[in-house]
Amino acid sequence: MIDIAVIPVAGFGTRFLPLTKSQPKEMIGIVDKPVIHYIVEEAAKSGIKTIVFVTGRHKRAIEDYFDASPELEYHLEKQGKYKLLKIVREISNMIEPIYVRQKEAKGLGHAILMAKKVIGNRPFAVLLGDEIIEGNPPLLKTLINKFETYRAPILSTYEVPWEKVSSYGVISGKPLEEDKNLYLVEDLVEKPAINEAPSNLAIIGRYILTPEIFKYLEMIKPDKKGEYQLTDALKLLNRKDSIYAYKFEGLRFDTGNKLEYLKATLHFASKHPEIGEEFKSYLREFLEKENL
Ligand code: G1P
Repeated sequence: MIDIAVIPVAGFGTRFLPLTKSQPKEMIGIVDKPVIHYIVEEAAKSGIKTIVFVTGRHKRAIEDYFDASPELEYHLEKQGKYKLLKIVREISNMIEPIYVRQKEAKGLGHAILMAKKVIGNRPFAVLLGDEIIEGNPPLLKTLINKFETYRAPILSTYEVPWEKVSSYGVISGKPLEEDKNLYLVEDLVEKPAINEAPSNLAIIGRYILTPEIFKYLEMIKPDKKGEYQLTDALKLLNRKDSIYAYKFEGLRFDTGNKLEYLKATLHFASKHPEIGEEFKSYLREFLEKENL
């Protein structure tokens, strides 16, 4: 059973400067919830109880968000704002957080290695802190179910336009006869040039890993930028053991990217129970007025 997940959140969020100068990128809001809320919610809905946040300096806002807030709760109670009180309490009850620090931003592989002592000898999930993925059931739940059958690392992939492959880890593999969306991974390459990419199946931010990964994370060398890449450790592991990759076909927003962030905002605003309908009619007016 997978009941623990790692979420690396130590990155600087340079793609969103200056907004991220004094605010963690994971706390940027989409309508009325920070990005990290959507990600943690996916983990909770997938049956994960404990989350190991690999955090760094200037990320205290994340810890406060998932903690109890007695003063705020007292204030809401006194004012009779019970609906908001319930929302606020539910957030601190959603998961059991554990925080470990990554002293230097040395890549995704290094961040995951920081969780080794907490994870120990059990399989675990990884969710990347800036990708919101909409799946029903949640993508992570699907991966957990596949893990129960195959008992091997399960990655998630997404078909991206070829000109985008160099922004991702990319896999090649063979779809299984009995499960066409599941690939047996043959090769993995981190951020290949377009002419060196083995396919256009990009690795996206949900993984199920087995504890063997830590051994390989300790063996890999840093890349040209000094970063230790999870993909490189997976490549080594794949020489000995099978790795599978599930092809996801639903909605995915990389909220670390400005345009994708705006798309996510439109998506969640138009579905919002309070403002959704009004927002959509405003949007129609706006498009007409702007001649779009
Ligand atoms: C990381 C991984 C990459 C993966 C990507 C998904 O890259 O290293 O393999 O495709 O996340 O978002 P990053 O975006 O952190 O550079």
